[in-house]
Amino acid sequence: MRIRILGAGAGGGFPQWNCNCDNCHRFRQGRFSGQTRTQSSIAVSAGGPEWALFNCSPDIRTQIQAMPELQPARGLRDTAIAGVVLVDAQIDHTTGLLTLREGDPVRLYCTELVYEDLTTGYPVVNILGHYGGVDWHEVAIDGSSFTIPGLEPLTMTAIPLASEAPPYSPRRGRAQPGDNIGLRVEDPDTGGRLFYAPGLGEIGPRVEEELAAADCAMVDGSFWRDDELTQAGVGAKRASEIGHLPQSGPGGMVEVLGRTDPARKVLIHINNTNPILDEASAERRELEAAGVEVAYDGMAIAI
Ligand code: MLT
Ligand code: MN
Ligand code: ZN
Repeated sequence: MRIRILGAGAGGGFPQWNCNCDNCHRFRQGRFSGQTRTQSSIAVSAGGPEWALFNCSPDIRTQIQAMPELQPARGLRDTAIAGVVLVDAQIDHTTGLLTLREGDPVRLYCTELVYEDLTTGYPVVNILGHYGGVDWHEVAIDGSSFTIPGLEPLTMTAIPLASEAPPYSPRRGRAQPGDNIGLRVEDPDTGGRLFYAPGLGEIGPRVEEELAAADCAMVDGSFWRDDELTQAGVGAKRASEIGHLPQSGPGGMVEVLGRTDPARKVLIHINNTNPILDEASAERRELEAAGVEVAYDGMAIAI
């Protein structure tokens, strides 16, 4: 299986348009060792020409431009995007669907609860109905697997996660199983196994098992500290309140990755306030010592 990081940033990307936090400000001044990151999405293929997008960010047009394989030019109108799989109904993961309106119906894979938000509080699917439309395939959270035409023999399995529902969801503050999922992708040809979970608030035994069994664990890298937004002066909420497990400290993501020890440990969905974006930071050195990688736009992984 081939994996390409289209966007490694969290909502807002890096730098964020209206933000002058230490990272964003220093980046614009040219005093930052690190690169820009577009919003959260990856592409996955079995090695053939077709790719599935895992999440579809507001930056999808730029991301497609940056990855020529997504436009194979087999016809007057063409795309290598065989389908879009969503892990939640958040703006940063779904708004790019509107950019795909000129094509055939978007083959969309998401849970029933995510579909509900996308047809009510944030009716992207209804809007697309006036353009190319959506061909919805429900993703079950009962442990059953699915395949995507063009990506055979890869199998995908949703793992329900504890995180948060979006602000426009009736389940905000009381997320239910299916509001957030992680995705296990298995390649029977190579034996490779990916666990992708860009929004992960709590780690239970089920998630620990997934991490331990993964050849590549690509997990929530939003915040270094639980109080990062308040410390940076840009928000009032703790990371845990908006469904993201911080990396540092006891029970943090770095400790969990060390304990479960997946073969490759990759942080993704990195918020613009996070010090790990700065390649010269002490936090980045800590990650290097722990064998944890920081995803970047264009990063390619084969497992
Ligand atoms: C989140 O994952 O919490 C989002 O990135 C928030 C947002 O997109 O505004
Ligand atoms: Mn997000
Ligand atoms: Zn910022």
